[in-house]
Amino acid sequence: MIFHKAHHLKGEVTVPGDKSISHRAVMFGSLAEGTTEVLNFLQGADCLSTIDCFRRLGISIENTPDHILIHGKGLHGLHKPDGILDTGNSGTTTRLISGILAGQPFETTLTGDASIQKRPMRRIMEPLSMMGADISSLRGNDCAPLRIKGAPLHGIHYHSKVASAQVKSAILLAGLYADDITRVTEPVISRNHSEIMLKYFGADLQSEGTTAAISPNPALHGQKVCVPGDISSAAYFIAAGLLVPGAEILIRNVGINPTRDGILKVAQAMGGDITLLNVNHDGEPTADLLVKHSTLHGITIEGAIIPALIDELPVINVMAACAEGTTIIRDAAELKVKESNRIDVMVRYLSAMGCAITATEDGMIIEGGRSLHGAVIDSHMDHRIAMSFAIAALVADGDTEIRGSDVVTISYPDFYADLARLTH
Ligand code: S3P
Repeated sequence: MIFHKAHHLKGEVTVPGDKSISHRAVMFGSLAEGTTEVLNFLQGADCLSTIDCFRRLGISIENTPDHILIHGKGLHGLHKPDGILDTGNSGTTTRLISGILAGQPFETTLTGDASIQKRPMRRIMEPLSMMGADISSLRGNDCAPLRIKGAPLHGIHYHSKVASAQVKSAILLAGLYADDITRVTEPVISRNHSEIMLKYFGADLQSEGTTAAISPNPALHGQKVCVPGDISSAAYFIAAGLLVPGAEILIRNVGINPTRDGILKVAQAMGGDITLLNVNHDGEPTADLLVKHSTLHGITIEGAIIPALIDELPVINVMAACAEGTTIIRDAAELKVKESNRIDVMVRYLSAMGCAITATEDGMIIEGGRSLHGAVIDSHMDHRIAMSFAIAALVADGDTEIRGSDVVTISYPDFYADLARLTH
């Protein structure tokens, strides 16, 4: 797909439902007694993979344009699927479902696409094995396909080396099936949607600092879940609104959970004009975001904020390329093991567009302020790479071609249509 420089960016946009919360609603609804209704569910390929997996595990899930209805069967209601579970491109599906499958009285094999088969699974295999699960990588490379043989599980206190909500959630979900309390301590707090939603469904879960603790065998009850707009999807419009001269846009109903809102803090620290309107603190907090074109300056992004903006770093790179001065990103080695190696891919293609950017061991250094020009970009089948370069293209001279652009169906199927509407 070809993209051009934007001379105009105005209007309102409502981004689709949060991907992390949509996945969890399907999973926890499947493990609850009774019906769970999900509003504003993200109809992206990743969340559809989660629905498909739970249907294959015996759960009836109705997916209509109005809502999703999950007819949960309780903690012990799943049955052995025929054949192999396919988690598609979704790391969240793969890792969280592994925690659930570790506690089932049957054996399952699961795998996903080429990207999933390269992503590290030792980070969940180790703690789940410590709990007593029999989990192995079929090719012996610590990646999917995984074979998981459920077993009686023991409560453990796991100290995770990475701040990863997928790891934390896999362990907490296995903890539902353990014989005692299960605790996870992370180096820095990662997104806490599992903790919030598990409690909402009736789990006995306590969070204190960077430790979450769950008691086994709760009665989970089906609930109504209203999924807020995904701040990770809003990030592309935040960046576009800040970068395109004269831009002013309103992004409606965006989730602003403090474990996810690093993009707002960073954009404001760079000098971005973002106003939060209609802030609502019921359940997962939300707000409308009013974003105006701003002159940005470089900053250092490191430490505890990194997990709260990990998925937004590619588009933050684009903002940094357009900011005056130097932006340094540290403590973000996790970028190497996302849907693509996002350090390599961002450095390669932002360089191709004329940006002075260098890779470091755990991030990148960007000398901002050079004008960008169009280039040919390969998405590496990574949705966040495709969307980040669609935003870079709005401020680049000449045309930008993004190959593999349709990968946005993973998290934001209407992304290009929404962007086109705002730029016309
Ligand atoms: C997610 C957690 C993060 C994030 C991913 C979604 C989740 O991954 O990058 O897009 O829904 O729990 P990690 O837990 O691997 O950091």
